[in-house]
Formats: sequence, C-alpha cells, structure tokens
Amino acid sequence: MENFKTELDADGILLCTFDVPGKTMNTFTKSALADVEAIAARAKAEPEIKGVVITSGKTTGFCAGADLEEMIGGAWETSAGLTGEALLKANFDAAFEMNRVYRLLETCGKPVAVAINGLALGGGLELSLACHYRVLSNGPKVQVGLPEVKIGLFPGGGGSQRLPRLIGAQAALMAMSEGKSFKPQEALGAGIVDEVTDDDKVVEAAKTWIKTKGDAVARWDKKDFKIPGGGPYHPTGAQVFMAGNALLRKQSYGNYPAVLNLMHSVYEGLQLPFDTAIRVETRFFCKTLATPQAKAMIRTFFFSMQALGKGSGRPAGVAKADFGKVAILGAGMMGAGIAYVQAMAGIETILIDRDQESADKGKAHCEDLLKKQVSRGKMTPEKAQGILALITATPDYAAIEGADLVVEAVFENTELKEKVTKDAEARLYKGAKADTAMFGSNTSTIPISLLAKASQKADKFIGIHFFSPVDKMMLVEIIRGEHTSDETVAKAIDYALKIKKTPVVVNDSRGFFANRCFIPFTAEGMMMWAEGIAPAIVDNVGRMTGMPRGPLEMLDDVALDLMVKITAETAKAEGANYKPIPGEKEVARMVADGRYGRKNGKGFYDYPADKGGQKTLWEGTKSMFPATLTEADPKTVEELKKRLLYVQAVTAARCFEEGVITDPREADVGSILGWGFAPWSGGIVSLMDAIGIKEFVAELDRMEKAYGERFKAPQLLRDMAAKGETFYSRFGKTEAAKAA
Ligand code: NAI
Repeated sequence: MENFKTELDADGILLCTFDVPGKTMNTFTKSALADVEAIAARAKAEPEIKGVVITSGKTTGFCAGADLEEMIGGAWETSAGLTGEALLKANFDAAFEMNRVYRLLETCGKPVAVAINGLALGGGLELSLACHYRVLSNGPKVQVGLPEVKIGLFPGGGGSQRLPRLIGAQAALMAMSEGKSFKPQEALGAGIVDEVTDDDKVVEAAKTWIKTKGDAVARWDKKDFKIPGGGPYHPTGAQVFMAGNALLRKQSYGNYPAVLNLMHSVYEGLQLPFDTAIRVETRFFCKTLATPQAKAMIRTFFFSMQALGKGSGRPAGVAKADFGKVAILGAGMMGAGIAYVQAMAGIETILIDRDQESADKGKAHCEDLLKKQVSRGKMTPEKAQGILALITATPDYAAIEGADLVVEAVFENTELKEKVTKDAEARLYKGAKADTAMFGSNTSTIPISLLAKASQKADKFIGIHFFSPVDKMMLVEIIRGEHTSDETVAKAIDYALKIKKTPVVVNDSRGFFANRCFIPFTAEGMMMWAEGIAPAIVDNVGRMTGMPRGPLEMLDDVALDLMVKITAETAKAEGANYKPIPGEKEVARMVADGRYGRKNGKGFYDYPADKGGQKTLWEGTKSMFPATLTEADPKTVEELKKRLLYVQAVTAARCFEEGVITDPREADVGSILGWGFAPWSGGIVSLMDAIGIKEFVAELDRMEKAYGERFKAPQLLRDMAAKGETFYSRFGKTEAAKAA
C-alpha cells in the first residue's frame, strides 16, 4: 500500500497507520481510497485478523479530508468524451467512490476502531464515522468536523447519513450546515466520538475496545436501530425538518444550494436503508458539485485563498523581509487594532498618538482584546501580559527610530497625513535601518501617489489598508503607488503574512479596490432610502443578497462620520465633477447631530446600551425621507437585490479595465474577506462570470437607462462579451484558472 503502513500484533489487531508519502498532512486521494479498500478486503479475508485500528502517522493531524485538487481536477476524467446518461453515470460512480470504499470497511465483518490522533475534517472524519468505534486525542489543537459547506459542498462521503444516525438529525444538520468544528470534549459531549484520551494513548484505547467489546456491526445496521430524536416520520423528528427549512431560509435566503441539498440528503436518506441512503447522498452531492456556486466557492475559498496565503502576488527576486519593530501613527480604532495583531505576531510595537492619554487609550483597547482571549481560555494570563508588554504607547515620535516600518493611521485628512509622514520619516530614515525601512499608510481612500508626495522616499511609500475590526478581518489591501518599488510591495506582503492576514495587491485609485466597490453598495442603499423605500426593506433586501448586513446597517458599522469625511475628501478631489449622492446631506446632518453609527450607539439604528439587546431603526429616518414603499413584492425584491449587487460588480469590472486590480483570484478573495461580498457567489468576479458577461452587459444597459450612469457597462465588458470571455479566461493567472 502506498499510503498506509500495517502491523499485525500478537492479539490479531491490524494497526493501519495513514501516512501519505511526501505530504505534511494526510488527504484522501484515489490511491488512499484504494488502500482502504485493500485493508477492508484483508480484514475480511484473513481469519487471524481479529480487528482493525486506523490511526495517522503524521504529527500534523489525522486527515484534512479529500484532496480537492484531485477531486475537482481529476475525479471527472472518467467522464471525458461522455454525454447524457453515460456522463451522469460516470460522474455518479466517481463521486460514489468514497462512499463505496468506506462502506466496505464498515461491513468487513471485523470490528474497526479509529484512533484519531489530531485534526480530522471532512473525508477524514467521514472515514472515522464509518469505523465502529472512535477514540479522539485530547490535544489542544485537535478538532473534528464536516466543514464542506464552507466551500459550497456538503459531506458526500457518508457524512450526511452517518452523523444524523449517530447524533440525531437536528444536531447533525446544525453541525453540517454551519461546517462547525468540535474540540475533543465537545465532540465527546455531542456523541461524535466514543472516547477521549491523551494523544499517546489513543491507539491503545482503540485496541482495548476491540479486545474487550469489539463489535463489527454498525449501529445503523442492527435490526433494532432507531434514529436518535426520531426520523422524518416521527412526530418530533418531523419538526426538525419543518423548523430546519424555515431556519435555513432565514439564515441563507436560499443562496446556498449545498445547504438545501444537504437537507434533502438527510431527509430522504433517513427514510431509506443505509446502502440506498448513501446512493441518494451521492446524487445530491453530484447535483451540488455541478452548481456554479460550488465551483466558484471551491476555487475562491480553497485554491485562491491558499495561493494568496502563500503570497502568490509577491514580486519575485526580493529576499524575505522580517519585521522586528513597527511603529503605528494614530492609536484610534484602526491603529489600536493594528497594534494588537502586530503584538500577537510577536512584533515590537510603538503606538503613537497626539498625547499620552490618547496613546494609552489605544493600548487599553489591546488589553481588552487580550483579556477576552484569556477569559475564553484561549490564552494564559502570562502570555497575554507578554504580548501587551510588546506595545509601547507614547506621543514621542523619537521612539520610531530603529523601526522597520511605520504604519500611519491618523484621521482621514490629506494635510494631516502629509504632516505626520514628514515628522515620522525624519526619525524612520535615520540610523541603522535607514536604508531598509519603509512607510505604509492605512488611508481608506486617499490615493497613495498623492500622499507619497510628502515622502522623502516615494519608492518605499505604500498603502497597507486594513479593514475594521482589524483583529477579525483577514484582508489587507497592499496599494502600489506610482513610484512604489517592487521590493516595497514584496516586503509589504511579507508584513501582511507575518501578522497572519491575506494580502491582495492593487494599483492606486481613489478608494483602491475594496472601498471603491463597497461604497457603491452603501451609496445605493442611501439612494433607495432617498427614493422612499423604507429603510427596513433596504436592509432586508441587502441581507437577502448574501451580504452580511444591509447597506444602512453597514454604514452604521463603518461609522457615519468616517463616511462624511470620505465624501468630503472625494468631493474636494473631484471638484466640479463631483456628483453628490442623494441622502448624503441627510447623513451629514445626522453626524452633526451626534449620530456617528454603531460606535456611539446612534446612527440609522438606535443601539441599546446592553450589548445583547436588539437594535431598532431610528425614527428620525422617516422624517428625512418619508417612506412610500413599505411592502415589496418578489419582483421588486429581485430588482433591488440586483441593484445592490450589480452596482458593486460593475465597479469591479471598471477596476479591471483601469488596471486597479489585475488578478481575478485577488478580486474574489478580496471582495469576500474585505467587505463580505455575497460568499455564495465565490466573489465579485465569479458572480459576473456565472451570470455570463453578455447577459450581464444586457442587464447593465437596461439598468443604466432606469437608474443612471453608475450602471454603465465599461468597454472592457463589451469586448469580453463580444469574444465570449470570462474574467478567469481573460485575466486568470494560472493555466488552470484560464481553463475554468
Ligand atoms: P480614529 O479617529 O479612530 O483614530 C485616528 C487617531 O489618530 C486618533 O486617535 C487621533 O488622536 C490620532 N491622531 C490625530 N493626529 C495625530 C498626530 N498628529 N499624531 C498621532 N496621532 C494622531 O480613526 P480610524 O477609524 O482609526 O481611522 C484611521 C485611519 O484609518 C483613517 O485614515 C481611516 O480612513 C483609515 N481606515 C479606517 C477604517 C475604518 O473602518 N474605520 C478602515 C480602514 C482604514
């Protein structure tokens, strides 16, 4: 066998150690499945084998699931040249392989126990579920779960059948539809594993079970088996599906076919004998895999994120830079958040503000975040103290000397930023690091090339744009100014990776990529409000598109005063060309009246003082624009959804046309990590590709007439439509992407 080592002990227990050669982590490939089939055949055939224990030979974990590269790239190769029924059958057979092999193991006639000595996800946990007994290591990093929905799929290796039969439909559906991971004790409590013990004792515990209780028949194969909590035709079991359907709609607005198909698979499967149930599961799995949502989500959430997480956009030939000491200018909301993520990554951090009090306030924010980590049991108090000690809060610019990088995060104001750049660089470009140090601005919208004019070294001046809240948002936009060197870009990527963020590289333009695409979403929401569409409808429809919140809620989260500052900066820069957005004056009035958004509990919504309370729409919005649309029929809802999504997408297309962004993977990942763009679509570019560029252009033409120039299709889209191109075929950076 290629991937398993076997060892038969004196008690007749065959220990099978999963250890894929040349890989740091085990994944399931066709070859690994063939090995499991061989193990099952051997256990069945050899009378001296009394039982089987499966474990992993890797220190990284048990198994991370199916090898997606092989599954997506190669699994369908059997279907090449086939059409119609034959094609469907070939696809079914390819997708059924894991189910077929796991079932052989489960019915091999000998007790099979699994010693899960580390992380077991997806197909790795599904293999464990097909074993008759599960022992899990209690190591601190161990987790088990079926996260397939996160990439637009659902568990198709028997998971959607075995988990509900093991822990009940309700618990299983909740775990699978959220892709939840369980820590050892949680997994034991939920009934996913039978025993938890120390890492070095899992194999022994599995062997002991075989010797003392070993049972070769799965519970669902026993005559008296009953589904925990009842099946679909049981009075309580039936309610799970009724409530579950409603919950599903509420959570996902029908945007995720994988979750719907998961529900189908569980509902239908639970009414069938096991061998038929897994065939039904595979049918729904194939159906899911064929959706554009699954294809796009796998590409973005798996392949592209992995590539960007390794710094795929990094200019070649630059030695990897380290960041030992970094100074931050401005200890406000963003500066404090950046200080926290830096210290968490072990970087000595100088947090500077106008006076000691303001700087201390920023450090206190870091302390609060660390306390939360401690109270949640994620960090020891000593470790938290050590991290906090890395942060020095001071108003003294002299502390910048010796830093590798300055990150500027003062108010969004060009003159102020120019002034602090000059003051900080006088210290930064002095002493031992003078030649290697660099300067990054966290401006939300001001062009980097404009800010770089105040710099002594424009080649070392770059945009490093974080998203709020910094500790949670994974994206960092690296903005290349007119004179920024490749070396500086490469080093900025190194910095982003060091603080565990995902970098995307964009070229300079007002708002760069993320805010340029995101602001039209909030602006469209404001315009709808100004048109007389009730704010509740605006935000509900916003959420129905798959965005995490509606546009007005988002404005509150970002902060209304920041939006007003951004608008003022943009208006100043555009001069006579600036076209005010309906609703903009009213938002400015709200800010003047002290309504800054969520941060002070007053914006489009009123936020209760106690954090658990529900926010309510602020009554004042009604007098500003009396609502004329207070109920929306499905057609109107669809049109409003389209406006909110398409206005962002057409902006992304303009960014490609202008060269602001050049890699569709970066645009897709950036849109989801940066502003939560409808994850079901796989990202802003995948959305346009899935609609079809020709169809998208036709809709934009209609919407331009109906709503105005902001929907105008750029020439790039017309060219692509004429040539039948997609974004990935035209701009894809890898051969695989081009072929997609
Ligand atoms: P903030 O108002 O919370 O913090 C700004 C801080 O800069 C204040 O603490 C202020 O005292 C300090 N400051 C002002 N003048 C200074 C000086 N001369 N020296 C040192 N510190 C000085 O603002 P926030 O939200 O943290 O934004 C900061 C920057 O980050 C802005 O450019 C903003 O556009 C950008 N940004 C904001 C995001 C957001 O969601 N709030 C997201 C991404 C970027």
